[in-house]
Amino acid sequence: MSRPPQPSQMRLDRLLANMGYGSRKEIQGLAKAGRIVLDGAPVTDADKRIPVTPDLSQRMTVQGRPLDPPPGFALMLHKPVGVTCSHKEAGALVYDLLPGRWRMRDPAISTVGRLDKDTSGLLLMTDDGALLHRIISPKSHIDKRYRVSLDRPMSGDEGALFASGGLLLESDDKPLLPAKLEVLSPNEALLTISEGRYHQVRRMFAAVGNHVTALQRDRIGGLDLPDDLEPGGFRLMTTDNRTALFAAA
Ligand code: URA
Repeated sequence: MSRPPQPSQMRLDRLLANMGYGSRKEIQGLAKAGRIVLDGAPVTDADKRIPVTPDLSQRMTVQGRPLDPPPGFALMLHKPVGVTCSHKEAGALVYDLLPGRWRMRDPAISTVGRLDKDTSGLLLMTDDGALLHRIISPKSHIDKRYRVSLDRPMSGDEGALFASGGLLLESDDKPLLPAKLEVLSPNEALLTISEGRYHQVRRMFAAVGNHVTALQRDRIGGLDLPDDLEPGGFRLMTTDNRTALFAAA
């Protein structure tokens, strides 16, 4: 009979140093001072190997506070307008919305794809490269839905054109895959796309002579932007969230 997969084990000093809590020497000092507590008991030897399980934040405290999410986590962020999905551009970055220590993490946290600076809505972030690739892989068929506000009323022909699979955007060499348009009012629609080309939604509406005045991503796969997640806020993804993300594919 095969054994269930075992959690990876890591030395405590290495784990916490990789999570941005300080140098390994600093972690050794914290441990000696009894400031790292696992399952109610101080871990005074930072050489100790710890099984890195997803529930570690519920079982370990560092300096009296619950441990940050251990490696292999993902989060949903409500990206506000005006922040950039980049590690190093000038101005406000999505990484500034996370606790400062998280910038020091190894593996680093990345955005799963990008939203334009002027686009708001659901943005996933993770330090799990395999998960990131699984989400963005075309093989996973994870669609993205956008709520679009437009400068001018729609003509009524947009839905058929977007669904046709024949729309070739300027400077692209391949037509877009079919996309689904749901009209909410003359100037508002939901658009579901399966690709992630540069400024895709804005360019689709520009191709039909319109102009996007506001754009919000409200769904990725079967995962909705939570109603109670304020712009700038984030929440760790639960197992149910992950299931929902892939469920609609
Ligand atoms: N399409 C756009 O035009 N912008 C985004 O941020 C996402 C999709």
